[in-house]
Amino acid sequence: MKFPEKKKNLMELLNEIRIFRERDFEYSRILGTMCSKPDRELIQIYSDFLETNLGDPKNFPGTKEIEDHLIGMILDLFHAPSSAGGRIVSGGTEGNMLAIAIAKNLSRGKEVIAPDHVHFSFQKIAKIMGVKLKIVETKNHVMDVNVLSRNITKDTLAVVSVAGTTELGLVDPIPEISDVCYDNNIFFHVDAAFGGFLVPFLKDLGYDLPDFDFKLKGVSSLSVDGHKMGGCAIPLGFFLARREEWFKKIGVETPYVSTEYQSTILGTRSGAPVAYGYARLKLLGREGFIEQAKKCMELTNYVKEKLEEHGFTLFTEPTLNVIAVKVKDLDKVVKELYDRGWSVNPIRRFSSFRLVIMPHLEKEIIDRFIDDLRDACKEVTK
Ligand SMILES: Cc1ncc(COP(=O)(O)O)c(C=O)c1O
Repeated sequence: MKFPEKKKNLMELLNEIRIFRERDFEYSRILGTMCSKPDRELIQIYSDFLETNLGDPKNFPGTKEIEDHLIGMILDLFHAPSSAGGRIVSGGTEGNMLAIAIAKNLSRGKEVIAPDHVHFSFQKIAKIMGVKLKIVETKNHVMDVNVLSRNITKDTLAVVSVAGTTELGLVDPIPEISDVCYDNNIFFHVDAAFGGFLVPFLKDLGYDLPDFDFKLKGVSSLSVDGHKMGGCAIPLGFFLARREEWFKKIGVETPYVSTEYQSTILGTRSGAPVAYGYARLKLLGREGFIEQAKKCMELTNYVKEKLEEHGFTLFTEPTLNVIAVKVKDLDKVVKELYDRGWSVNPIRRFSSFRLVIMPHLEKEIIDRFIDDLRDACKEVTK
């Protein structure tokens, strides 16, 4: 498309934009995403804060106060000690990047040890930051502490593990990993981008899930996404570090804006997702997040039972609200589903596709999906 030479009539323009938007999938038919559908009643907040810039907070002291309160709530949720600090970031990728940037400043090591299911953001980070990613084998698709111990050397820069893996929604044995890292004095980052807003509330409900946050003395930093299970609007992630002073190590002075230094990747940052996130967390509170977690897991069980009733096999038992369904001719099935208006995510290394049972999904949607899945599989095997 060429840069427009002439002005355009506003009504025509709005119509043009609407037509593009109508081509997008309805959220209820996107079954593979880890992102949330925003609450209708909070949407106005996002537009009220559109022009706010948290990169230069002196102009927006009110919005900055919201940001500080929001970070405070997140530090509290993840049992951060008083020495800790937090930053709002654009998502899991940026949070993970800050972790490795800090680790690089604290250690002479060159290698980041991570399990084979670690999110691909770490591949990006390795390329951009010039560190080596040492991928280690897992056992039953979670990190194996013995394998980890054997791989630690004087070159180890950091260890990463995951609470809520991207492909299967599993949780690494984080307490054991934390002990190994603590004993070896190694920076340990927990990527809770997906599971961070689910695991604490499932634990409240009595689920047998490991601790994964700053309660564990070996956890150095943690990333968690508001825009995933936090139900917040994109982009909203959090990065927390055990010591606020570590941010200074990656920060730069900011001579012509109102902060002393900045330690996030982004400079200009919209206050819109921040205000939205603050409102979302307060609207639900722990009580609402527990209800949301319960609903997601009940629906996950329903999906599992329905799929098995119709002869489908799950790749592994779900721990969280992620279901991987094994199918023959994976790509063809995924395409057939797409043509029927359903979006699921293929996990090729497991010949499976992923369903993420997010809070906006309902039984009726699942029933319709399973009917279409059966038709799609029949079509593929014709
Ligand atoms: C475990 C995990 N970490 C990091 C990310 C990256 O998050 P973002 O896409 O918000 O940068 C994801 C995304 O799905 C994820 O599942």
